[in-house]
Amino acid sequence: MMERSAAEALLLALEARDQETFQHSARVAELCVGCAVKMGMSSDEQDDLRLAALLHDIGKIGLPDRVLHKSGKLTRNERQLVTHHPEMSVSILTPLRTLSRVSEIILQHHEKFDGTGYPRGIRAEEILIESRILALADSYDALSSMRPYRGPLRVASSVAWIKSQVGRQFCPVAALAFLDMVETAPHSNFCPPRAQVFPGEERVVPQLRTGCEI
Ligand SMILES: [Fe+2]
Repeated sequence: MMERSAAEALLLALEARDQETFQHSARVAELCVGCAVKMGMSSDEQDDLRLAALLHDIGKIGLPDRVLHKSGKLTRNERQLVTHHPEMSVSILTPLRTLSRVSEIILQHHEKFDGTGYPRGIRAEEILIESRILALADSYDALSSMRPYRGPLRVASSVAWIKSQVGRQFCPVAALAFLDMVETAPHSNFCPPRAQVFPGEERVVPQLRTGCEI
């Protein structure tokens, strides 16, 4: 319980440092839980996946502003810095020993089904099912969000792209459930109520309540 509160404090730090990543993480968490429900995962599994999704990019708070907020193309060195964020996230969470499963899910969220991901290049069932779901939700939300060089993609275009990556980037079983969920209840541009992200709303510092109306 204590460690869940510490995780919530980390989330507030993320919100203070980088609104965009915080809001992305909140949407990704909603998508992950929706998919986990479709797949019949237990409520404990759903809880771990939700927390992993909320904190999956916490390691990005360690990136310098010029990289974190860069709107143009990243240089090779900058990209290398960014690709260390799963490990950085895990090292931030290391003292929270009861969250070891959550940390492992986070560590694997950029692994790809065909083994071409990072940091370890593991493949298929070697990747935790929660991480395979998180990878789908992460990509889907990135596609449905505004980018400096393009507007948000429509649901049909995001779905088509995900379908083209099934068996390559994404797990076929998780993708089936995920796409079924998205097509029946599109979450594009979905912004979850803040109370869902922070159930202990009264404890939240007022000046942190900026950005999307949650
Ligand atoms: Fe990430």
